[in-house]
Amino acid sequence: VINASVQPVRLGTWPTPLEAGPRLAEALGLDQGDLWFKRDDLCGLGGGGNKVRKLEWTCAAALAAGARTLVTSGAAQSNHARLTSAAGARLGLDVVLVLSGAPDHAASGNLALDGLFGARVVWVSEHDQTPLDEVTEAVASDLRRAGATPYVVPFGGSSSLAAQGYAECGAELLLQIPDVSNVVVALGSGATTAGLISVLGAERVLGVHCGAVADPRSTLARLVSGMGVSIDSAALRLDVGQVGAGYGQLTDAVMVAMLTAARTEGLVLDPIYTGRAMAGLIAAVAAGEIGRGARTVFLHTGGMPGLFGHVDAIERVVAQVREWQFHAPQS
Ligand SMILES: Cc1ncc(COP(=O)(O)O)c(C=O)c1O
Repeated sequence: VINASVQPVRLGTWPTPLEAGPRLAEALGLDQGDLWFKRDDLCGLGGGGNKVRKLEWTCAAALAAGARTLVTSGAAQSNHARLTSAAGARLGLDVVLVLSGAPDHAASGNLALDGLFGARVVWVSEHDQTPLDEVTEAVASDLRRAGATPYVVPFGGSSSLAAQGYAECGAELLLQIPDVSNVVVALGSGATTAGLISVLGAERVLGVHCGAVADPRSTLARLVSGMGVSIDSAALRLDVGQVGAGYGQLTDAVMVAMLTAARTEGLVLDPIYTGRAMAGLIAAVAAGEIGRGARTVFLHTGGMPGLFGHVDAIERVVAQVREWQFHAPQS
């Protein structure tokens, strides 16, 4: 349940822009004025993304608790870990990241930025049986014994307190586009979708499951009710069909979504989150669940560094380069 005494610490630049997407709308079979992009990737801090709004609340709680060190966990290419590192730098706090995998799995993208922002990393082998949350708590205990005052930011940055950041985003969006019918969003650890639902209602928010949690419906319902909003979990709109072979794996539908967004609007999506959300939007239009004449917002939650940390995606994108032999005219 949320701590009403916490006031957010501002880390981003708000409001984020709302942009029209007429060429992508047409490519999907919608009318030109139907599709809009809420650019939360353009929010300033550390390369931007949805984690910033959540960290504004979580970091406020950490500061109120007197913390000097932020500890959090995630995948090697976690955008949340990158933005926690940037928030720590901005606030003058140390950051320790507990990441699953090994450094050579992802020696670019988000991990490179984690290093740039000065974070320290504890690696947990993918074969380790201990859940990442438990390792994270153990790291925090070790830090406490060593005299530090750590604060554990939950996996993916999601809690009902963090979701307040996306309640704010929902309110911001209603000022920009009051008649919005659909908001399509990548669902990872859930607080982004939960916060939007708390303001816009379950019927207007389509969460596209990215494979980061085992049970997205109950995760989401728990986060929403923790915000003090009653929710019928059966009413939640979820697309659980975009995960493919697993969280880190690039699907063909995501590749198509990334290429289509890039080639119609110059919009960069990542293979894990925003690419899946766009694949979910394309599928919802194809299924008639999202149609013409309704205003649909695609929430761009960031994640571009994750594209550069994804070897398969980069290989497939680079393979798209069309070579052209240019011969200067002879004078
Ligand atoms: C780029 C990006 N988009 C969306 C999400 C999902 O957000 P949430 O964890 O709040 O569901 C994440 C984080 O996991 C992310 O990094």
